[in-house]
Amino acid sequence: MAKYKAYFYKKDDIGLLFYDIFFNLRFESNTSKDKSMQEQLSQINQIIAEIKDFQADTKDKLETFKSKYIGKKGEVASLFEQMKNIAAEQRKAFGIELNRLKEVAQDKFKELSETVEAKTQVSSSKPNDLTLPPVPYALGSIHPLVQTRARIVEIFERIGFTQSEATEIEDDYHNFTALNFPPNHPAREMQDTFFIEKNQTSDMLLRTHTSSVQIRLMQQQKPPIRSLMIGRVYRNEAISARAHCLFHQVEGLYVDENVGFADLKQTLYHFAKELFGKDIKVRYRPSYFPFTEPSAEIDITCLICKGKGCNVCKYSGWVEIAGSGMVHPNVLENCGIDSEKYTGFAFGMGIERITMLKYQIKDLRLFTENDVRFLRQF
Ligand code: PHE
Repeated sequence: MAKYKAYFYKKDDIGLLFYDIFFNLRFESNTSKDKSMQEQLSQINQIIAEIKDFQADTKDKLETFKSKYIGKKGEVASLFEQMKNIAAEQRKAFGIELNRLKEVAQDKFKELSETVEAKTQVSSSKPNDLTLPPVPYALGSIHPLVQTRARIVEIFERIGFTQSEATEIEDDYHNFTALNFPPNHPAREMQDTFFIEKNQTSDMLLRTHTSSVQIRLMQQQKPPIRSLMIGRVYRNEAISARAHCLFHQVEGLYVDENVGFADLKQTLYHFAKELFGKDIKVRYRPSYFPFTEPSAEIDITCLICKGKGCNVCKYSGWVEIAGSGMVHPNVLENCGIDSEKYTGFAFGMGIERITMLKYQIKDLRLFTENDVRFLRQF
């Protein structure tokens, strides 16, 4: 006998009724309710698919979704009502499926509500007011090397120094020969050069110092000359915290009648006090450059330990800031300046080095990395 007692057939299910009675009588099976269960299950799957595809970008569409699926008279509710028509032993499985549907519908409703909410917020905000002042951009800062350069120029300008410029690609003559570097002399190896092109008259290279500008200036202008040569120079060095293949130099040249070593000393003494403060001590250490005679290295008291000795000054209390000397008579003559009548002094320093000392920067590479966290500090 059929196991179910209370199944109410709908009017158009009458064929099913006879079919059920027939089969149930003969086979005592649950075919009718099986079928009903299967239909319901496929209906559930179909609704789930529909829900997943549902799109809503307005509040109206969202409402439609709500009433169609999760409202009191929606699909989910009506399926729950049909629960009673399911055979008792299948009810549990059906219930699980139905709950899955309910969850899918609720999740989708939440997702759609959020989308609609976001959309309406954007579209309901007022149109852009073009008369409002723009959102301010964060201002950049002046690169520390540029600041140091400006400060150096400022100091020397006040004592009558102009500025001179020339190209970074130079020939061997202006970079070496005219500066009294003998051909094939080891002095040329003091500066590891990037040669660009072999040339019959003069090889082409990237200037290794701005002294080449001194030559060009002296060739063009007769004394009195009082000028700064500032710019980028290149040397074939492995890049590290202390060396780079490019850096910036400021050189100075003063040529006139009766210019002596005392002028050199006093000028650079004045410069060091202006840049580093009154308490700084300056010393001149004998040195060698092919283009100056006599030559001196200029040291100042170590800014970090104030002369007491630390690892920056290698426990000497002094740090080197520049090279200097009296312009070699050969150099003046090479430029057509009478070395009997005129004398001069020259000096040269690295802007990076000065900046590192001034701000206690430990790694030279920071200057070219353009990391805003570094640059913002200046
Ligand atoms: N040209 C030298 C250098 O680059 C610096 C210097 C300039 C030294 C002028 C003395 C006089 O090393």
